[in-house]
Amino acid sequence: MISRRQLLRFAALFSLGYPVLNLKRSASAGNKSDPRPYPLTADIITDAYWAEMRASRHYDGYCQKALLEDFPNIAYLFSAFSISEKTHAVNYQRLLFSLGSSLEPTEISVMVANTKANLNLAAIKELEKINTYYPEVLKKISSESHDQTAVYCMYSWKSHQQHERMIHDIKRYSGIFFRPLAKKIESMNPNYYVCEICGSTIDEKPTIPCLICNHPLVHYKKIQRPVLDLS
Ligand SMILES: [Fe+2]
Ligand SMILES: [Fe+2]
Repeated sequence: MISRRQLLRFAALFSLGYPVLNLKRSASAGNKSDPRPYPLTADIITDAYWAEMRASRHYDGYCQKALLEDFPNIAYLFSAFSISEKTHAVNYQRLLFSLGSSLEPTEISVMVANTKANLNLAAIKELEKINTYYPEVLKKISSESHDQTAVYCMYSWKSHQQHERMIHDIKRYSGIFFRPLAKKIESMNPNYYVCEICGSTIDEKPTIPCLICNHPLVHYKKIQRPVLDLS
């Protein structure tokens, strides 16, 4: 289990270890007249909020597509991921409020393919968040040293590792054929739980405190199986 102090230390190490390739400083960064206490952090977390919301909406779309294609267990996985991503977004929303920043309504467009392609795309996106997006975010926010932001970003980064592992495990069964993979998955009986504090996503009933945020297991919520939205 990881303590808050360990998460912060890890975040600090991260910020030292990763070169930032696409460091785009926002207009307000470095602007001395900006009244906000952590302007760069707020701008970066605004971007992270929308990234997490986009991920959540995409997983909702993938879930509905999987239900339509009669893959209820894959739909269930996508549904759990959507709730995890939403947890990350809500954490950032709370942060932004505390930093005196607000979120402007923004349209989110969602692109959904078939379930096989959606699984592949999900794996790519999760890896991108693990290997590129969050290392860059941690690097960028390190200059303003807002501890709670670093902790929330570590929650997200570690949850994405869980997601990627789960997708990887599913794809491991497949070889090159999707149908046998789907058949195998649909013969299982998963139960997904998501930690409401950090978005940690697990596929069996928790027996110990959260592996990511260390909060008591009461914070793990069992995810209900999704149903087809006919509206
Ligand atoms: Fe996320
Ligand atoms: Fe947690």
